[in-house]
Amino acid sequence: MPVHWFPGHMHKALKEMKEVLGQVDVLIEVLDARIPYSSENPEIAKIRGDKPCIKIFNKSDLADPDVTVLWQAHLEEDRAVQTFTTSIDDTAKTKSIIDLIRKICIRKNASIKTINAMIIGIPNVGKSTLINTLANRVIAKTGNEPAVTKNQQRVNLGSGIVLIDTPGVLWPKLENPNTGYRLGVSGAVKDSALEYDDIGFYAADYLIKTYPELMKARYKLDELPNTELEFLEMAAVKRGAVMAGGRVNLHKICELLIAEYRSGKIGRISLETPQMLIKEKIEIEQAVVKKIEDKAKRKRQFKEGSLTPDKRDKKEIRTKKRLETSARAKAKNKKHNGT
Ligand code: G4P
Repeated sequence: MPVHWFPGHMHKALKEMKEVLGQVDVLIEVLDARIPYSSENPEIAKIRGDKPCIKIFNKSDLADPDVTVLWQAHLEEDRAVQTFTTSIDDTAKTKSIIDLIRKICIRKNASIKTINAMIIGIPNVGKSTLINTLANRVIAKTGNEPAVTKNQQRVNLGSGIVLIDTPGVLWPKLENPNTGYRLGVSGAVKDSALEYDDIGFYAADYLIKTYPELMKARYKLDELPNTELEFLEMAAVKRGAVMAGGRVNLHKICELLIAEYRSGKIGRISLETPQMLIKEKIEIEQAVVKKIEDKAKRKRQFKEGSLTPDKRDKKEIRTKKRLETSARAKAKNKKHNGT
């Protein structure tokens, strides 16, 4: 796992959010457009009830626009959710979030005077940049540690809207190991907490398979190799990440690959799609079932004793023969019946 979680922070942050949620009219969740699932707070959907929620796809300038459209449709299947794309270079669009907040809240309660909007997001997602744009001034950054005594920062946006800012906290989705890697690649995690070999290899594998043309163009390669290691070696040679004695400096090339991905130099690239997440969910469920079955088998063997290796071989041969005979009989019957 390339990311180190801080369960204490998470519990404290969640407690603080729950305490203030009663006063909140609308929830604004800032997502990283490249990883809308991995950057989403898995707990908030459980506690927000039917409160309206605006999911901001920030850093949309870095994400694959076709994939972003798929994600927006997917998340808007929840009727309480409205999505909105933003990026640092389009402040006019970001400012229009204020109109959206007002529209959503007035639709729910026409006589509302002051709108309380709670804003949440993982570290480095661009929450402070967004708040500064909405407030039209530089607001002191909320620390990324939940307060010991609850005091979320309140920012008056004018026109009757108050933003309740919360600390940026990472929420683990431990059941899906890919989310840790994607958070690492995107830059949600401080570099000091990262294992570069892990995320560099993960990124290389994903990028050469999913965005081969962009990778060929960026690293000036006519063809891409089959494995991430071969790719990293080829890219390292192109970029001079080679040590004395002609050995490839894998750490350096991994660092460079991640930096170029994060800055958008390779192109607009998303790290996950709704389809991928469905597939991963099925694989995870199958792995869980297999683990339970293996455990039950082990327990049975433990209780009853398992066959010695030679007996097991003989049993496997008998089973194989039985299956072959039965398959042959079935085929013969089919032929005989003309089906
Ligand atoms: P946070 O409060 O959620 O922790 O994030 P913050 O606003 O501080 O933004 C984190 C980094 O992301 C900043 O870069 C910021 O400029 C960048 N950023 C914010 N919004 C966008 C966006 O829409 N597109 C792009 N491309 N970048 C965005 P930084 O100060 O250089 O930090 P770092 O990149 O070195 O971490």
